[in-house]
Amino acid sequence: MTQQPGSAPGFPTVRPRRLRRTPALRRLVAETAVQPSQLVLPMFVAEGLTEPRAISSMPGVVQHSRDSLRRAAAEAVEAGLGGVMLFGLPATKDAVGSGALDPQGILNVAITDVVAEVGDQLTVMSDLCLDEFTDHGHCGVLDPDGWVDNDRTLEIYGQMALAQAAAGVDLVAPSGMMDGQVGAIRRALDAEEHAGVGILAYSAKYASAFFGPFREAVNSSLEGDRRTYQQDFSNGREGVREALLDIEEGADLVMVKPALSYLDVVSAVRAAVTVPVAAYNVSGEYAMVEAAAANGWIDREPAILEILTSIRRAGADVILTYWAMDAVDLLRSA
Ligand code: PBG
Repeated sequence: MTQQPGSAPGFPTVRPRRLRRTPALRRLVAETAVQPSQLVLPMFVAEGLTEPRAISSMPGVVQHSRDSLRRAAAEAVEAGLGGVMLFGLPATKDAVGSGALDPQGILNVAITDVVAEVGDQLTVMSDLCLDEFTDHGHCGVLDPDGWVDNDRTLEIYGQMALAQAAAGVDLVAPSGMMDGQVGAIRRALDAEEHAGVGILAYSAKYASAFFGPFREAVNSSLEGDRRTYQQDFSNGREGVREALLDIEEGADLVMVKPALSYLDVVSAVRAAVTVPVAAYNVSGEYAMVEAAAANGWIDREPAILEILTSIRRAGADVILTYWAMDAVDLLRSA
């Protein structure tokens, strides 16, 4: 007599595969979903460009002109994204990053352009860091020995926050990993009646090889690395410590960056805090998949969905990703 599997001694009675049998069953029991409203699109805008310029190491991502940035922001509204994160590329740089404070500086005018375009329909965020604006490419100003001077940099960050707030930004995003940066920015904003401007803190930001393509994206001048201020990738608990400190200083959201090699940190931070947690799916993570897909070595679209879902599963409420617009299409057709 032939026995059906499962009805004979020695066969399993508990069969998790039952819930995987059809697409409808799988959908019914899916634990994690990605929503367009949870996605933030990082965008680059370059002073003096009249047409968007391709970034070779990030196929599909461009340096925008002011006009093309506005159009892209309007498309982000149409797609239902949660927000955009703006990076500005000035035509000239100096030792102290003056372009970051100038109300006519590229990032500040771009904020005003985008806010004029999207109003309250999209959360407009801006990178608050000096590295795009300094000729040495560091995130802060240097002392005579070449050390990044924490406290002098904090003063400049406070002024930069005011310039971005005056331009109309919703959330400033300090990414320079200076000690005390969130508190300094919060005090500067509050002293000038910008208590309504929030802070998305890059709290646990690691000195990472996965920022490689971003250097091309922002025409970076950096030589060397940022290991005296960004975190050592050996350290997980320290990421939680940084997030807790930022919350004490007034951060409204905290971020872990990069995302994929740090999903353990995303998960630990999520467990330790009650504010929303963001994760940044960075340039190198994007470039690896795009390059492999261009070679036919990986199936691009499922890879994107798997990556974004994994970042959510680890505990991120918000994901910054260069795939934000693509992901909306993929989620619609999934
Ligand atoms: C610093 C900043 C960096 C990124 C975002 N903000 C570069 C760095 O810290 O070296 C990297 C983003 C990416 O790789 O996608 N302003």
